[in-house]
Amino acid sequence: MINRRYFSGALAVLCTTPVGAANRPNMTMHRSPTCGCCGAWAAYIRRAGFSITIVNESDLAPIKSRAGVPDALQSCHTAFIDGYVVEGHVPVEAIEKMLSERPAITGIAVPEMPTGSPGMEIPMMKPEPFKVIAFSQMGSSETFMDYPNGFIAGR
Ligand code: CU
Ligand code: CU
Repeated sequence: MINRRYFSGALAVLCTTPVGAANRPNMTMHRSPTCGCCGAWAAYIRRAGFSITIVNESDLAPIKSRAGVPDALQSCHTAFIDGYVVEGHVPVEAIEKMLSERPAITGIAVPEMPTGSPGMEIPMMKPEPFKVIAFSQMGSSETFMDYPNGFIAGR
């Protein structure tokens, strides 16, 4: 039988000291205060070791247009990290790839809100396929990462 005290202690350590947390830049996320999935995505980002500041907005449209997020790529929340835009339910590995490769793009987006993407997990629902799209101020966009079988946490 698992020692409960030890188990929760180990869990707390996992949650508060993620690997590489010290050198991760802060993220700022703009979202509607009534959006639950935005909060779930923020919690996922925090668990991955990022610090994230949440800014509630009554109208996100001006933020998205200032950030240069194309209409077709819009989702619920818009986040900023280290000079890049992160739109929607983007997996951490895509953010890490962008921050390490530093491509000449404005940011990355997961358009709409695919079922099973981080923060959009719905029990008993099959993860939907989706793509992370890189976009730039010049209007170009291309596939940055592809999840043909949807997002499965831990893979
Ligand atoms: Cu959402
Ligand atoms: Cu959101």
